[in-house]
Amino acid sequence: MLTFVQNPNFLCSLLVVVIAWCIHRFRITPQPPPNSPPIVPGGLPWIGFAYRFIFKRHDLLQECRAKYGPIFKVPIAGTYCTVVSSPTAIAAVITKSPRTLQSLNDRAVRTITGVAPHRVSTIASLLQHHVFGIISAKMSKRAMGSFFVGMSQNLSKRLDHLVPLGTHSQVQFSLRDLIMENFYQISAPTFFGTNVPDVYSEFIHLDNHIFQLLNDIPFIRRGAYHASERLVKAFIPYVQQASVGDGDIYVEGASVPLMDSLQQLMKAGISTEEIARIFVAVTWGFHSNIIHTLIDACAYLASDPIACRSLTKHVRSVITKRWTDLDTFLKEEPLILDDPEFAILDSLLQETLRVVSVASSGRKVLRDTAIPREDGTLYWIRKGEFVLADVAALHNDPEIYPNPEKFRLDRFLNVEVSYSARSVKNLVPWGGGPFVCKGREYAEYIFKAWFIQLLLKYDVSMPSGYKPSLCQNISPTIARLAGNPHIILQRPTP
Ligand code: HEM
Ligand SMILES: *[C@@H]1O[C@H](CO)[C@@H](O)[C@H](O)[C@H]1NC(C)=O
Repeated sequence: MLTFVQNPNFLCSLLVVVIAWCIHRFRITPQPPPNSPPIVPGGLPWIGFAYRFIFKRHDLLQECRAKYGPIFKVPIAGTYCTVVSSPTAIAAVITKSPRTLQSLNDRAVRTITGVAPHRVSTIASLLQHHVFGIISAKMSKRAMGSFFVGMSQNLSKRLDHLVPLGTHSQVQFSLRDLIMENFYQISAPTFFGTNVPDVYSEFIHLDNHIFQLLNDIPFIRRGAYHASERLVKAFIPYVQQASVGDGDIYVEGASVPLMDSLQQLMKAGISTEEIARIFVAVTWGFHSNIIHTLIDACAYLASDPIACRSLTKHVRSVITKRWTDLDTFLKEEPLILDDPEFAILDSLLQETLRVVSVASSGRKVLRDTAIPREDGTLYWIRKGEFVLADVAALHNDPEIYPNPEKFRLDRFLNVEVSYSARSVKNLVPWGGGPFVCKGREYAEYIFKAWFIQLLLKYDVSMPSGYKPSLCQNISPTIARLAGNPHIILQRPTP
């Protein structure tokens, strides 16, 4: 024992531990500057709450909100992140000018595309100022008709193949595989055209590890990194094929937003490999949030037999009364999905997003700025710090949403009953202001189209007793469903 204690390595380690403990224990708690949000005390010297902020974010934010209210500052790695979750403060954060609060898109571009560090800001700015504008214009309600009808028809064919016609027994599927594969396989060719590389399994791999990649976590990000590099390799020949000399491009069967974006990127002199890298990020961005929203929505709906049966009945009666059959309905322009008869599907989407959104809209503070509190007074946040909108906390505030833990299909349907629920400031799953989601209208429409078709074609259920639960800590934007539940499809008896 004595020799062990006399060992100099052991003594050194002990000393380090004791010093670290002393710093931690007796460190003067930082006094917040005047008008600063309360600073969450504790945390390790300098590191602060970095570990929990990355790996247990949802739990950490919930605890801090309970103690310090809807606006507080978390010390992280030598700086601060102010977390806001009241409607007014979130609205202020997301609508401020990019010169005051800048999105963290640079970081996302660096981690997902893997372009060379000196190219990150050029490419992020090109995406921000050109490509996102194209997506928002060419995938808007009015513009998406060019590809939406074909896409819905292809979705219909795919869903038909799941259970052979004439089979009336129940067939089980992994909910995740069912949605991922069927959604991805109709959506990727819709955007990229018939020559899109077949990279479904790499996409899954990337999506499963996106948290590690986005957070740039050494060692464990390797899996995602390799998947992403394989995707890049597969997209390079696709991009090469697209240029047909003289700066012209042609991509067989591709959508307008894709061709326009490609044109812009080529005009700006972005290399083939870099475009392939951007396309990998775009592939993930186009699919992942929608796929996980669909998975979560199916799980919540199908595990509630009463809600599921009533929605199924409603959809079937609307389609048969107004269009006789699905094929006639599928020829309609996408704007038809705004029909009041489908408002219950908007409610399904909003209720899903209310429950599954996680803290998002992270911003870097470029200039000192004020954040309003509910009582009208101001908190100040400083240049060099960060801000995060904890929309999950807002969406689960019982003052705004009674019984927030309950999933209610019609929560957003009845204006009189839930007036506060319909205030735009109280439901913010798409962010807002200059960095608002550019695929929002498309996501809304494809979500509704998916459920109309699925419920028309199948009686849908989950194994009895199944209750959905979410992994909120390690999901970007949309909380992922825990476990791998099965969904049961059965062709309706005529
Ligand atoms: C249910 C599906 C989706 C949800 C919940 C969602 C949500 C979001 C959120 C929360 C943001 C960040 C906003 C902010 O920083 O304030 C965002 C940004 C963005 N989204 Fe979506 N999104 C979805 C689907 C899509 C789709 C399908 C596309 C493309 C077709 C898309 C394109 C974008 C783009 C380009 C941005 C960056 C906007 C910018 O920084 O200017 N999103 N989305
Ligand atoms: C639908 O599928 C067909 C055949 O697979 C394909 O040629 C067509 O481009 C697809 N349409 C869309 C909009 O994806």
